[in-house]
Amino acid sequence: MKHLPLFFNVAGRKVVVVGKGPAADRRAGLAHSAGAEVVRADDADVADFADSAAAFVATGDALADAAAQRRARAHGVPVNVADRPALCDFILPAIVDRNQVLVAVSTGGASPTLAAAIRARIESVLPEHIGRLAEFTRTFRAQANALIFGSGERRAFWRRMVSGPASRLALAGDTAGARRLAIRELHAARGRLKPVGIAHIVGAGPGDPDLLTLRAAQLLLEADAILYDELVPAAILSRARRDAEFLAVGKRKNHPGWSQSDIEAEMIRRVRAGQTVVRLKTGDPFIFGRGGEELDALRRAGLPVSVVPGITAALGVAASAGIALTHRRHASSVTFMTGRSSEDGCGGHTYVIYMGGTEAASVRDRLLDAGVAPCTPVAIVENGTRPDERISTGSLDMLARLAASHLSRGDAGPSLIVVGDVAAFAAPAAKPMLREAS
Ligand SMILES: C[S@@+](CC[C@H](N)C(=O)[O-])C[C@H]1O[C@@H](n2cnc3c(N)ncnc32)[C@H](O)[C@@H]1O
Repeated sequence: MKHLPLFFNVAGRKVVVVGKGPAADRRAGLAHSAGAEVVRADDADVADFADSAAAFVATGDALADAAAQRRARAHGVPVNVADRPALCDFILPAIVDRNQVLVAVSTGGASPTLAAAIRARIESVLPEHIGRLAEFTRTFRAQANALIFGSGERRAFWRRMVSGPASRLALAGDTAGARRLAIRELHAARGRLKPVGIAHIVGAGPGDPDLLTLRAAQLLLEADAILYDELVPAAILSRARRDAEFLAVGKRKNHPGWSQSDIEAEMIRRVRAGQTVVRLKTGDPFIFGRGGEELDALRRAGLPVSVVPGITAALGVAASAGIALTHRRHASSVTFMTGRSSEDGCGGHTYVIYMGGTEAASVRDRLLDAGVAPCTPVAIVENGTRPDERISTGSLDMLARLAASHLSRGDAGPSLIVVGDVAAFAAPAAKPMLREAS
């Protein structure tokens, strides 16, 4: 090991930054975000190193860098000099900063580019809100230590807290739901209640493993059991946790397989037994994937469930074959439909309207003229999937009013309008897909 990795507490302490320009600014910014009192200086002569916790030098000039380094050292202050490893007492790692969770990567100064590439890989597997999870578990520390005595039970409890259902709710921002599940986990650890698991209905995309979403890839690594469809290729299944249970539940035309109700019952049974279940479907679960029925079944059973979208085959194929599904000169709408006769379906139609928020009256009129019933449910979804997602629901005849009141805020974000019977399923809560166990 070339360097000793340490996390240095500089909160409230003086840190000197010598130099101007992006390298100096970045170092000043980092020290500032760690709570240091940053003192900037243009060169060694004006820098006051006395009582500093650390110094950063980034003048860009070899002689000036060396002079500043010598003065810092003379005051006994550890110093980092940008791009001059030989002058450094400590080096700056590439970091992944998710609030409480901080990952530092070093190549011992050999290749900052390699360190940055490794950091990018770590970024892609760490959930965006992992810091929330760290904060959430911190709030349970004292309680868990006081209530769970055996070290094995305690370890099992913490493992479930950081990768079980409560953690998924915390990561999704549902702190109240996460807290309820964590309390249940506490009781379970003390043998008083059975733990409850969670089901994730996940889109695997059209087949190329690189077209999995980051969340899908993360969940494949967390799953205890994966119930997958016929069309999900082995290359995607191989991204999953090695010791997960794999169940092929595909229904092939003219081949007997699992019935839909068997699949739902199996998901419910496993979630009740405390497992993290990934129901993996090709493409997107809500496009000809029966994901809606599985979501309903889990919700009816009062169990935690989330839905993770995937790239539907139509979008994957379009990109792969170079077919722009909408094209300014050739097509302004797309229809996704099934080739199967609608013997087991109702034949209803869902319209998803992009850029329709400010045109709601004309959208309504066009749909009414096309024969859509005035009482057809509509949902306006603004900032979908983002922390500030907002949903308004109503019926087609009131679409203009609904849009006006929904979008009346000056800073309204991007929105889509969904029209069709399925729009009635839209949950107006911020995080409709995640429900804690009752
Ligand atoms: C039961 S549907 C599931 C659709 C899936 N939920 C989605 O969003 O793509 C299965 C059909 O999707 C289409 N499909 C799925 N993956 C495909 C791919 N990689 N290339 C072309 N078509 C594909 C085929 O028409 C296949 O019969």
